[in-house]
Amino acid sequence: MKEIPINIPVIGDEEKKEVIKVLESKILTHKTGSGPYVQKFEEAFRKFVGAKYAVALNSGTSALHAALLSAGIKRGDEVIVPSFTFSATAEAVLLTGATPIFADINPKTYCIDPSQLKELVTKKTKAVIPVHLYGLPSEMNEIREFAEENNLVVIGDAAQAHGAEYRGVKIGNTADIECFSFYATKNITCGEGGMCITNREEYFEKIKMIRSHGEKEPYLTVMIGHNYHLSELSAALGYVQTLKLPKILSRRRENASLFTEELEETEALDVPFVPSYISHAWYLYTLKVKDNRLRDFLFKKLRGEGVGVGKYYEKPLHTIDFFKKRSKIPKELKNTVNVSSRILQLPVHPEVSKEQVLFIAEKVKNFLKKF
Ligand SMILES: Cc1ncc(COP(=O)(O)O)c(C=O)c1O
Repeated sequence: MKEIPINIPVIGDEEKKEVIKVLESKILTHKTGSGPYVQKFEEAFRKFVGAKYAVALNSGTSALHAALLSAGIKRGDEVIVPSFTFSATAEAVLLTGATPIFADINPKTYCIDPSQLKELVTKKTKAVIPVHLYGLPSEMNEIREFAEENNLVVIGDAAQAHGAEYRGVKIGNTADIECFSFYATKNITCGEGGMCITNREEYFEKIKMIRSHGEKEPYLTVMIGHNYHLSELSAALGYVQTLKLPKILSRRRENASLFTEELEETEALDVPFVPSYISHAWYLYTLKVKDNRLRDFLFKKLRGEGVGVGKYYEKPLHTIDFFKKRSKIPKELKNTVNVSSRILQLPVHPEVSKEQVLFIAEKVKNFLKKF
């Protein structure tokens, strides 16, 4: 059987046509970061999410960094983040000079556990970054309620959650600012790219300035900024991909449901838990094995069959020296440590056929019998 990657971009003639149009126009970028295709991409994605404002940037990491800066996060501040995430979540905090405070996760959803926020908050805490991990929204009602009581800004890390919904609300509208990534493996992609979505004009205006050298207007710097412009080539790709997102999501949902149907009776593992009020974006389909020795066994066996399985994130950030030295870990992160040795991801992207899902599920069941 041919290799099945864990994720692969879905690129068609529509993307090629738009990218060629950009090349022919010779407008490859814009001095404010707001060229014609960037505007088209922002408008399409903003409409999809149903929020007021969108700012496209050159990565999900720059989106998180710009969001934190726009909220005034700076040296001396503390920002609560889960340890069970990609490095960029905590890295963005460090880029502002603030300190990440690592929080534990709910062992069923793998997202930050809101019930321990009260033990982590101090006078220095200014923000919390819930990560909608694997495409499953965090418990935003509890998080926002806590944030309001404690005067914290909520910045959603939605890098993996294009199209996810929390209690009928699209991710993009569940925090003060939500940050998406369009890295090549994501549900939709620009190659590299990011977007900040907000319903607050003050954040929108600041993020636009941060994207472009802190300029209020061309050549008039009023604050510290960066060159976080997204190129017009990338924006053209992102624009077409946004139009395809509903179809991409429905294929991912079909594949995920089929895996769950095939594997939910399997004793040795748990299929993903999806609360009834949540619509999952299925960036990754995550199994959790009950006996942690099974994880690496299954990983090797499935790789041997050409299946691009993943172990995201087998090294939680609080266990990595670099982050350990620069963060605070006020509590033992038991669920994070436990879950990180048990999770295994299967490919559910649109190019995985029904036959391939059945083939992978069958292999999982057979390998488990052999263990
Ligand atoms: C949870 C999470 N946060 C942040 C990022 C950073 O996004 P980017 O790679 O576009 O900088 C990613 C993806 O790579 C991610 O998965």
